[in-house]
Amino acid sequence: MTPAAASGPVADFDEETSAELVNASWADATDERSRELLSGLVSHLHAFVKETEPTHEEWERALRFLTDVGQKCDDTRQEFILLSDVLGVSMLVDAINNRKPQGATESTVLGPFHLVDSPARTLGADIALDHVGEPCVVAGTVRSIDGTPVPGALVDVWQANGDGFYDVQQPGVQPELNLRGLFTTDDEGRYWFRSVVPRHYPIPQDGPVAALLRATGRHPYRPAHIHFIGGARGHQPVTTHLFLDGSPYLDSDAVFGVKRSLVTPVREVRDAGRAAAFGVEAPFRLIEFDLVLTPDTSAS
Ligand code: BEZ
Ligand code: FE
Repeated sequence: MTPAAASGPVADFDEETSAELVNASWADATDERSRELLSGLVSHLHAFVKETEPTHEEWERALRFLTDVGQKCDDTRQEFILLSDVLGVSMLVDAINNRKPQGATESTVLGPFHLVDSPARTLGADIALDHVGEPCVVAGTVRSIDGTPVPGALVDVWQANGDGFYDVQQPGVQPELNLRGLFTTDDEGRYWFRSVVPRHYPIPQDGPVAALLRATGRHPYRPAHIHFIGGARGHQPVTTHLFLDGSPYLDSDAVFGVKRSLVTPVREVRDAGRAAAFGVEAPFRLIEFDLVLTPDTSAS
């Protein structure tokens, strides 16, 4: 009597076949990109597990950590993005999706403190409603990559105060919409506003991501910076920061966001004429930061 044909999978699940068997299970997924992403994830994940050979306790600890990250998330807190930030994945995805020509303003992470509805402010406005920090003027020109100034461009800015806190971190202490503004460039593509020099600050300290940094001896700080989103008709928007030259942590940003082209000095200006043009008194601190946008070739 011939034995009945063996039923079951084509091969047993073992260390050799694991990724292949799991990836075969996506065969009926109709979306090709989903299949590519899932197969790549499984291949790399299985290779990682085989290379590092975690114990059951280590596997449980990793899942506990991811559970804690998920449970820390709510409508206003996104601990998974913070995890992506400190692992350098946010900056890597940003780099892949923002390949720009030489001379264009480089991009960096958005961060968790942006508000979709920035308050529209007039050029020259003082955005430091609490006046915590050294007063300064921030000014620049929005240009296209060929050097042409861009009138009517939008410049969305937000920053921490001189103590290193955003308004949303200190409700009831800082005025609402402190240190935020949406500006429109003038006929010569210029923007300017008054503010305070921000301080370096740590990423949110009350969650599992900060605990991971503590457990591994990593500091949690970001160097002092001002966030910008620059946008104009016919151009790709850029999400970026200016980083203050001389700030601590420029060489070890907890989220790997610093690019050398974005490091900008705070200069002391003694010229009374320039001071008057900005509505301040000499001497004053000036941070100059131009935004150079790339034309959007995909727009018709
Ligand atoms: C920020 O600059 O606002 C930021 C970016 C990434 C993580 C935490 C804060
Ligand atoms: Fe920030």
